[in-house]
Amino acid sequence: MDDRPLMSADSVTCRFRGTTACRDVSLDVYAGEVLGIVGESGAGKSTLLHCLAGAVQPSEGTVTYADAKGHDHAIHGLSESALRQLSRGDWGFVHQSPYDGLRPHISAGGNVAEPLLRCGETRYASLRAAARHWLAEVELDPERLDDPVRTFSGGMQQRVQLARNLVTQPRLLFLDEPTGGLDVSVQARLLDLIRQLASELEVAVVLVTHDLAVVRLLAHRLAVMRQGEVVEQGVTDQVLDDPQAPYSQLLVASELRS
Ligand SMILES: Nc1ncnc2c1ncn2[C@@H]1O[C@H](COP(=O)(O)OP(=O)(O)OP(=O)(O)O)[C@@H](O)[C@H]1O
Ligand SMILES: [Mg+2]
Repeated sequence: MDDRPLMSADSVTCRFRGTTACRDVSLDVYAGEVLGIVGESGAGKSTLLHCLAGAVQPSEGTVTYADAKGHDHAIHGLSESALRQLSRGDWGFVHQSPYDGLRPHISAGGNVAEPLLRCGETRYASLRAAARHWLAEVELDPERLDDPVRTFSGGMQQRVQLARNLVTQPRLLFLDEPTGGLDVSVQARLLDLIRQLASELEVAVVLVTHDLAVVRLLAHRLAVMRQGEVVEQGVTDQVLDDPQAPYSQLLVASELRS
């Protein structure tokens, strides 16, 4: 078994003018695992996720990705086109708001098929068949293929976003609060679906959330962030059952009270 990580952050610091959004973060993501990143609002979770996905340049440190052939890439040193190729084919990114991750005025099927088109698939029948398949995979009615995605509910739009990000069969999926803003029951179904698909498709997932119940359900390992730093990381059950860092202890205690 290849026990090298799929992606590694090494001492990553991201500064925006006066703010240090994340500081000296090192973590690994392994093939097929779900890594949860938790922490309070403003802790730097989204910044770190964007930095891992190549969209935010770190001020210091490196992010390395091992491709399917086992070649390492320092992703922030890549040319724009090489990075685009990886982020289109190897990675997916599900945004907290469907409006950041979807094109609301085109059809659900068009949204799902578009990444395949960008990867070079131009046969209309194949694109439609793939869109149908992935809509069904996320438990949406494939007959709604031609409906504009803006006519879907919030939970359904997140499913379309998920389908759009799975259609290229990525090795790594970034999820930034994918269930934020949804009703609790819709959230639970979507989380179940993510868990099921991640394990079926053997895709590695980096999942940002501020909700410990979500990481309990989904994440194999967990990194706890506070004020830009990872204060603790480890196997989810261990971190949550026996937190070591004072901030993780506080987080777990406040979950128990709520
Ligand atoms: N593009 C930017 N320009 C300036 N400051 C930024 C930028 N992006 C993030 N920040 C700052 O970095 C810090 C971390 O923000 P970030 O969005 O990463 O936090 P978060 O943990 O994702 O919070 P939330 O749970 O509210 O989404 C905040 O102080 C934020 O204002
Ligand atoms: Mg965020």
